[in-house]
Amino acid sequence: MIIHILQDADRLGELAARHIEVALLGVSSPVLGVATGSSPEPVYAALAARANAGTFRVDGLRAFALDEYVGLPDDHDERYRNVLLRAFANPLGIDGDRVHVPDGGGEDAPLAAARYEQAIQLAGGIDLQLLGIGRNGHIGFNEPGSDFRSLTRVVELTESTRVANARFFARAEEVPRQSISQGLATIMRSRAVVLIATGAEKADAVRAALTGPVTTDMPASVLQRHPRVSIYLDGAAAASLDLQLLESIAVVHDWRE
Ligand code: GLP
Repeated sequence: MIIHILQDADRLGELAARHIEVALLGVSSPVLGVATGSSPEPVYAALAARANAGTFRVDGLRAFALDEYVGLPDDHDERYRNVLLRAFANPLGIDGDRVHVPDGGGEDAPLAAARYEQAIQLAGGIDLQLLGIGRNGHIGFNEPGSDFRSLTRVVELTESTRVANARFFARAEEVPRQSISQGLATIMRSRAVVLIATGAEKADAVRAALTGPVTTDMPASVLQRHPRVSIYLDGAAAASLDLQLLESIAVVHDWRE
């Protein structure tokens, strides 16, 4: 595991974007796993700048979302398909038909989940999965208690996740109760993982995920078992880490002044 600690989110975005660009260089039809939430926004902004400058080549790139809400109408602003088009695909000049998102709006969500898992396999798997982390340590929508063997499936959102995500909706009751999420095993099959965390409210989850026991109570802790994980943190998200302990188990680049 390699951990980068940056001064602020903008610098983090630039470094993580460069990491993604380099990791996908030489992959002929790269498959990028993309996340929603606020954490990846600076990464997408920096990737868009690199795509527009011509250094990050997006021709041939396909993207697969981590998750999608169940039951939001097609045109809802918070439907993750729409969020990803707005924040990621359009600024980078990637056609919407190359952005794959589970179908959370249909009649049969379990079937949509199974088809999505299959679509990832058919695409040859994910070369690099970008992740945020929830305050309770969820990745995707794999809430505490999720099985490490889980594949893409329908999941119930915890109350704490619904409260955390209410800021994106006009009314808290509008936050869906279910989502379709890549499973923890799906995420672990990605050939590389980049996890982004910013802000003090993530500090406890970051410490537990990186230096605590590997347990289903802290879903992100499973990443300790992944052979190619890079973590990008701002100073606030890194604040609870015991850097001495961390240096005994990971490569730490502290880029702060
Ligand atoms: C959501 C998403 C996750 C995301 C997490 C953190 O629930 N499903 O993929 O990582 O929240 O979001 P944020 O980055 O906005 O804190």
